[in-house]
Amino acid sequence: MKQKSFAKDSADSIWSSYYSYIRHLESNTFFREAFEVLEERIKVLNPKSVLDIGSGYGWSSLILADWLRPTCVTSSDPVVEISYDEMRVLAKEMDLEANKLTIERKSWRFEDIGSGELSWDMIICVAAIHHAHELADDLSTLYQNLNPGGTLILANEVIYSTFKYRAKMAKKLLKIMYHNLTKKWALNDQLVGQGRFKYDSDLGDWSVSRDYYCFLAECVGFNEPEFIETEYVSYKQVGHAGNEMTISHVILTKPI
Ligand SMILES: C[S@@+](CC[C@H](N)C(=O)[O-])C[C@H]1O[C@@H](n2cnc3c(N)ncnc32)[C@H](O)[C@@H]1O
Repeated sequence: MKQKSFAKDSADSIWSSYYSYIRHLESNTFFREAFEVLEERIKVLNPKSVLDIGSGYGWSSLILADWLRPTCVTSSDPVVEISYDEMRVLAKEMDLEANKLTIERKSWRFEDIGSGELSWDMIICVAAIHHAHELADDLSTLYQNLNPGGTLILANEVIYSTFKYRAKMAKKLLKIMYHNLTKKWALNDQLVGQGRFKYDSDLGDWSVSRDYYCFLAECVGFNEPEFIETEYVSYKQVGHAGNEMTISHVILTKPI
């Protein structure tokens, strides 16, 4: 069968090197600024063990290690490979004191974080949970690997309010109906649920509504989620397609 090729030319060049990615992150996006909104909050929580899951090249792990030193931060991504030495170069590029940061590198997934060999005071997932196909199961796994009183932070996500989600869902459903009637089939089918929809079939990216996070948090056993909406959009370029909404964080606490 002829497979549809991935439309990721620009992403390929960005992700081809950790060095060019960090340049892209700092020059073209507000991801670092949005993440740094969490600084005081994370310092007050003062976790003794931190897992940054879905960390990509690990820029957020480096920032966490800087905020929390001497705590060692575990940086994990199942796809993106980067050596410890490369991470130190990256830290210097980010104006962090590389020789003072303690980082471990793993290749775990959120559905299998080291098969439960460790438990954590904090698990953080930066712009990565939107890849979860089985969101309820994955949140449950992350919950089980947290210590009592521990915190799960879903950082740098775009989260729809009830109204916006419903408007988007209606539009998507109409489009799906139209494609069905006109037999415009796609290999990667569109998926729309009560609380989340897949907005990029090629990359497997999901948008999740605030209501759905609240529902899942309760089902899994977390306290009521806290949402922090930053003032930052994703891209510095005015009018960029990804800039309709600001970046938010979800803070989920496991009861003691
Ligand atoms: C948009 S990137 C974000 C990377 C990094 N956290 C950042 O903010 O630059 C999403 C990351 O999620 C990772 N990812 C995808 N599926 C995953 C899974 N099931 N478990 C853990 N990480 C996953 C990808 O490898 C990718 O590096």
